[in-house]
Amino acid sequence: MKEKKIIITGGLGFLGFSIFKKLINENYILVIDNLSSNVTQKKFITNYKNGTFCELNITNNSMLEIFEQYSPEIVIHCAAQTNVIESMKNPTKTKINNIEGTRNILESVKNLENCYFIFISSGGAIYGEPSYLPVDENHEKNPISNYGISKLKGELLTKKILSESKINYSIIRPSNIYGPGQKTENVIPKFIKLMKNKQEVRIFGDGSSSRDYIYIDDLVEIILKLCKTKINCTINASSNKETKIIEIFNFLKKQLNYDLKPTFLNDRKGEIFNISLDNSNLIKILNFNNFTTLKKGLIKTINS
Ligand SMILES: NC(=O)c1ccc[n+]([C@@H]2O[C@H](COP(=O)([O-])OP(=O)(O)OC[C@H]3O[C@@H](n4cnc5c(N)ncnc54)[C@H](O)[C@@H]3O)[C@@H](O)[C@H]2O)c1
Repeated sequence: MKEKKIIITGGLGFLGFSIFKKLINENYILVIDNLSSNVTQKKFITNYKNGTFCELNITNNSMLEIFEQYSPEIVIHCAAQTNVIESMKNPTKTKINNIEGTRNILESVKNLENCYFIFISSGGAIYGEPSYLPVDENHEKNPISNYGISKLKGELLTKKILSESKINYSIIRPSNIYGPGQKTENVIPKFIKLMKNKQEVRIFGDGSSSRDYIYIDDLVEIILKLCKTKINCTINASSNKETKIIEIFNFLKKQLNYDLKPTFLNDRKGEIFNISLDNSNLIKILNFNNFTTLKKGLIKTINS
């Protein structure tokens, strides 16, 4: 993909910046981020001649004008308050950020000419406790956290506002994303950091809680395929390999020569116990089946 004008919201975050790095050499990118939970500094955007940075909250009412002026051919909406526990402590903040922010972005996109929109939702949070595994896209949606509710509402707004427009769009529901450049509040980088420092690792629950994980480069590749094909779809993006948290602990422990035992704590409100996402639509529709194995991805993350 070449010479496209792209807007990435939340482009200083883990996923947004990974997409930026992949696309910046051959395209023009405007990153919008309010520096609220960024892992990257804005100079890493403006160091590129094709990169532009706008420090702004996605709820700001100058967004429409910014979008009209930049006139993007692709918008990838990653900005969000992403912390599940924080969403339980401060529901209003998450609601304004994730729902009103998404509404504002959609209102700024809907009248653009020939623009393709991607909404990054969350497969781990919108379905709630699964009634079967792996969870496919038609599974009922019963989010148990305010974060999950806000992501589901973002999907509904995307469908409502853009189906009344000429914009093609897709909604991606990633499972747990991991890889180099992630905030240390997320489980894998947190374990790695603590183990490297020989500090205590705390696990919520007894370690048997499971998730499926997707390596960041795989997700970026999937997003690139969507940008190229511009298809309308709502799909899970996952490796569909269920892994217990204790298995991740044990693998990292071995790799990092860590010799302490974990401390087990009570489960946290808002977190799902076991979930894995059916990825057959991803494989069928986007022809993506080249998943990085968890072991390989973890080693790359450790060495980054
Ligand atoms: N990390 C995961 O495992 C995961 C899984 C599923 C879905 N997602 C979704 O993927 C997207 C990206 O997640 P991430 O892991 O990169 O998160 P992140 O926290 O690393 O990045 C989010 C970025 O958005 C910015 N931001 C937040 N609120 C903003 C606002 N109101 N205005 C402007 N900028 C704002 C932050 O400063 C940050 O740079 C999110 O929408 C998240 O819900 C993430």
